[in-house]
Amino acid sequence: MTTFPDAPADAGTAETVIRTRRSTIRLTEPAPGPDELLDLLAAAATAPDHGQLRPWRLIAICGDARLRLGEAAAEAAPTADQAERIAAKHLRAPMMLAIVFQPRDHPTIPRWEQLAATSAMATTLLLLLHVRGWGGIWFGGPYPDAPPVRKHLGIGDREQLLGYLYVGTPVSGQAPRPHAPADVRSKLSWHGGTER
Ligand SMILES: Cc1cc2nc3c(=O)[nH]c(=O)nc-3n(C[C@H](O)[C@H](O)[C@H](O)COP(=O)(O)O)c2cc1C
Repeated sequence: MTTFPDAPADAGTAETVIRTRRSTIRLTEPAPGPDELLDLLAAAATAPDHGQLRPWRLIAICGDARLRLGEAAAEAAPTADQAERIAAKHLRAPMMLAIVFQPRDHPTIPRWEQLAATSAMATTLLLLLHVRGWGGIWFGGPYPDAPPVRKHLGIGDREQLLGYLYVGTPVSGQAPRPHAPADVRSKLSWHGGTER
């Protein structure tokens, strides 16, 4: 019989990981290799996922492939100036992980739950990268819905590109994006239970 695992002895460390993760914008070589990425993905795939549909896939874009993707995105830019800047954005990290949402037709699991599961997987992957000392940041683009980008990456008609995790080695000495303290009291209300 499978039993639930106890809370891990190093649960405090896990909380530290969550509290210390920061998106890293300046990233350099190296990025995780194929074996490590698969290992991290296997762990990220344990994120909450109704029906375990795993309604997503990832595309790892490295090396010159970033240039080619940048050229595709640049086609969608309105001016030549912007096209150049858009193309350059694809070189800010040694690896881009395209997050492709693949919603399934399911009689009881709606699309929004599948999108939430995909987001949970991507967030878990960012945390795992942090655990291993890699840096990462989730950017929605550039131009995730532009036809040249979709065509270049082979995004299917029923699929949606949810942007990219930019991944690599954090450049030392950079300040993290500041975190404004969240007013969590205003984000939590109670119905019943102990008066607080
Ligand atoms: C789906 C998604 C798309 C995002 N796209 C952008 C983006 O295009 N540009 C940007 O500056 N931040 C974007 N962010 C926010 C950053 O990834 C990051 O969370 C934010 O800068 C706060 O930094 P932190 O993760 O260290 O708190 C996005 C976040 C998510 C979840």
